[in-house]
Amino acid sequence: MKGDFLEHYFTNNANLESKMRVITYENNGHVFTFSSDLGVFSKNRIDYGSKVLLETILKNEKRKNIKILDVGCGYGFLGIVLGKELDSVVTMVDVNKRALHLCEKNRKENKVNGECFISDAYEKVSDTYDLVVTNPPIRAGKEVVLRILQGAYKHLKNEGLLWFVIRKDQGAKSIIKSLETTYKVEIIEKEKGFYIMCAKKIDTT
Ligand SMILES: C[S@@+](CC[C@H](N)C(=O)[O-])C[C@H]1O[C@@H](n2cnc3c(N)ncnc32)[C@H](O)[C@@H]1O
Repeated sequence: MKGDFLEHYFTNNANLESKMRVITYENNGHVFTFSSDLGVFSKNRIDYGSKVLLETILKNEKRKNIKILDVGCGYGFLGIVLGKELDSVVTMVDVNKRALHLCEKNRKENKVNGECFISDAYEKVSDTYDLVVTNPPIRAGKEVVLRILQGAYKHLKNEGLLWFVIRKDQGAKSIIKSLETTYKVEIIEKEKGFYIMCAKKIDTT
């Protein structure tokens, strides 16, 4: 049921029981550790879609020292690994306080430069970035997903890239269509029904 699901990972329920666990992930000789807990997305293992998204970005993104924004960061998997592997500063935002608390702890433990703060999409974000990354909260509804994907435009530098993952059966094609007026959108990878997409900001100035 949608209501239960929302309670599960979007709301800030201070009474929610805590059962911390640690997930490890290895890339390029770096071993990352992620503390996770009840009430956050993909609490027991790295989400498959996020993993394919991350690996696809790392295959394609050769720049270092860039500015990265992770929207809907959860406990920080995407932002933290990208920050480390691309020697970059990362900003991570989410609406889930528990996820953000874990994200900040994970950022520090994995020695990645940056910050984590609460923000409904870009509400509290004022800067611009070279790369925006998101595994958007599909179950929060299309309005939120489009607000995150379309809203990235204002927070990307010219020629900046928005990377995201959506399952084919979650309306990937219609989402691509809705982005095509402001971005050049490409499907970079398709794996097990996950579409990994890169949308380049069209410079309209
Ligand atoms: C599919 S999860 C991805 C989490 C993490 N990036 C990962 O890859 O494991 C989507 C995240 O978006 C967050 N979220 C939901 N609504 C949001 C909103 N309006 N603004 C920012 N984040 C939101 C959820 O709390 C959740 O952590």
